Amino acid sequence: MSDLLVVNIGTLATPIGNCARGGADQGAVRVLHDAWVLIENGVITGVGEGAPPAHAAARRIDAGGRLVTPGLVDAHTHLIFGGWRNHEMALKLQGVPYLDILAQGGGILSTVEATRAATEEELAAKARLALDEMLALGTTTCEAKSGYGLDTQQELKQLRAIRALRESHPMDIAATFMGAHALPREYKENREGYIDLLCQEMIPAVAAEKLAAFCDVFCETGVFTAAESRRILETGKRYGLIPKIHADEIDPIGGSQLAGEVGAISAEHLIVCPHGGIAGMAKGGTVACLLPATSLYLGATFAPARDMVSAGVPVAMASDFNPGSCPCLNMQLVMNLGCLRYRLTPEEVLTAVTLNGAAAIAMADRVGSLEAGKQGDLVIWEAEDLSYLCYRMGSNLVRTVVKNGQTYSNTTRAH
Ligand code: NIG
Ligand code: FE
Repeated sequence: MSDLLVVNIGTLATPIGNCARGGADQGAVRVLHDAWVLIENGVITGVGEGAPPAHAAARRIDAGGRLVTPGLVDAHTHLIFGGWRNHEMALKLQGVPYLDILAQGGGILSTVEATRAATEEELAAKARLALDEMLALGTTTCEAKSGYGLDTQQELKQLRAIRALRESHPMDIAATFMGAHALPREYKENREGYIDLLCQEMIPAVAAEKLAAFCDVFCETGVFTAAESRRILETGKRYGLIPKIHADEIDPIGGSQLAGEVGAISAEHLIVCPHGGIAGMAKGGTVACLLPATSLYLGATFAPARDMVSAGVPVAMASDFNPGSCPCLNMQLVMNLGCLRYRLTPEEVLTAVTLNGAAAIAMADRVGSLEAGKQGDLVIWEAEDLSYLCYRMGSNLVRTVVKNGQTYSNTTRAH
């Protein structure tokens, strides 16, 4: 692997460290001017200001005085699915709520049908296109959930597609088992039966094949109760799967409190998170993984991000890319919304989409900041500083993505 020296960086902005940053530290990013980054064998070996080191063998890239940040970390996606759900737009326009569409057998359940009908190879080929687009938009690490199979073989098929992509695509991908995404049609009258299947067959099978690091549950009205979610997450823990939870997306039924109690690495959405949930997450050391593009898409309110920062809960932000509630994989839009709707500062937003995202998927020791020892993942932006990156909206401001020391240029220049 060739070495790379990025020079003439006007502003280098990065959070620092190997763990999530909350409270005042959320916005305490390191800013260097006239900076350089040296990447050797895919790993950062030096970051500094002023004259770059003499490294004759390294390929040089001139950042032209632009902004450089760590590669973005998208810590919450439902990457693997068949079909799309554009047919739901008419229902949305008639005002039919998200959970009503699901209760009528549509929503997630219609994607389950399309996903079951696809082969592992077809699912991987479709997701590969999304990964290419994500990389071109500045995302260098992501998480991917199963959850549109809802039976053992179908869930394994989704997770194997993730494994195949991890082995063949430059993106780093963390896998999450989310068999508890909805109650499948076959178990409509037998909730207990499906939860037994999850706990007795699916989780053990996922663990045996080492297909996922995390276990996630949709804790929501009409989906899984807090008690059911607890049982599933505790079972996952016994099999080595780290808990995550979709909590307080539409109704606050105890998901964020549960996140703290089971020691979830992250709680997701938290749109209607109550004070007790914020306190519970602070106590449990849970990262709040907020998904503002979903709020926008559902026409919902926005999570109380400032209250979370005030309470010392580290805030991450991710896309939630999925075919229903958020068919958007653009983390640059997520950053805009972080400022405009969460009222986070550009520095707090940067930490949310890099180091705290990495912490939400247990990868903060490898990615999420520009420091010696971390992976050589960075973005050169068509921006002079962080405020410009958060201010422009709807363009792709990526100039060059560096992933593991390899470069990917954006040929359409934003201006
Ligand atoms: O995070 N809320 C549950 N899961 C996804 C939506 C999945 C879908 O609608 O297909 C979410 O919003
Ligand atoms: Fe989600």
